Amino acid sequence: MKKKLTRFDLQKMKDDGQKAVWITAYDYVTAQLAEETGMDMLLVGDSLGMAVYGYSGTVPVTMDQCIYHTEAVRRAAPNTFIIGDMPFGSYQTGVSDACKNAVRFHKEAGVDCIKLEGGIRVAQVIQAISDGGMLVMGHVGLTPQSAGAQGGFRAQGRTADSAKVIIDDARAVYESGAFALLVEGVPPEVTRLICETLPIPVYGIGAGDCDGQVMICSDILGLFQAFTPKFVKRYGNIADEYRRIFTAYIDDVRNGGFPGEEHVYRMIDGEAAKLSVK
Ligand code: KIV
Repeated sequence: MKKKLTRFDLQKMKDDGQKAVWITAYDYVTAQLAEETGMDMLLVGDSLGMAVYGYSGTVPVTMDQCIYHTEAVRRAAPNTFIIGDMPFGSYQTGVSDACKNAVRFHKEAGVDCIKLEGGIRVAQVIQAISDGGMLVMGHVGLTPQSAGAQGGFRAQGRTADSAKVIIDDARAVYESGAFALLVEGVPPEVTRLICETLPIPVYGIGAGDCDGQVMICSDILGLFQAFTPKFVKRYGNIADEYRRIFTAYIDDVRNGGFPGEEHVYRMIDGEAAKLSVK
């Protein structure tokens, strides 16, 4: 049986130069297959707002939605390190709300850590949740919950001045007690500096090579249709498989090919004859 990784395993992987691989998962079946194939971690990301609920961003996602999906993922993947993503509004309103919501993730959904976005501006929140005995993963660079303030979903840190802001944010996350950091949408030169200077594991999405990678599950599957960011590598085109299967099913039912004899439950011998229709 697969052994669930701990923060110390993840730290050792960084120290040994071994990459950690993870994806987002929002449902039971995906999480079960991810655990079966040996995924190191699963993130129940607030990207579920777009991938599952069809919102145009992550801002509308609620704590309750995150909890429901994380519960399902935990049931499916009991031996995988699971990250609960703090949605917008669950930690921006103060340290006390942040701690309460981090506790909810642990009590109700059995997460191994929580992730939240921001650097210096959330340092106190990271500190308080860590002081409460919970593991925090930071998230700097492109932070979708504040995409408006960042001028949209666009790469960050492409000038030396803006890169310095991200590097300072990354350091603040580490110094506040986070055990790991996610860097999103940042040039690889900047990520490498962060990864080489911080002792904690630094993971990336659209940020080049570092201690490991996360991808949005529906992106690598070729399932999410609305848009595909430059940094995504598609490993298949599951949307085309859906189309093929749905079309085949529709045709089959309409043309009398389904259900066939092998798909029905016949009455016990002799029982049909006793039925009389008045
Ligand atoms: O919500 C999410 O899926 C994320 C990704 C950037 C990994 O935070």
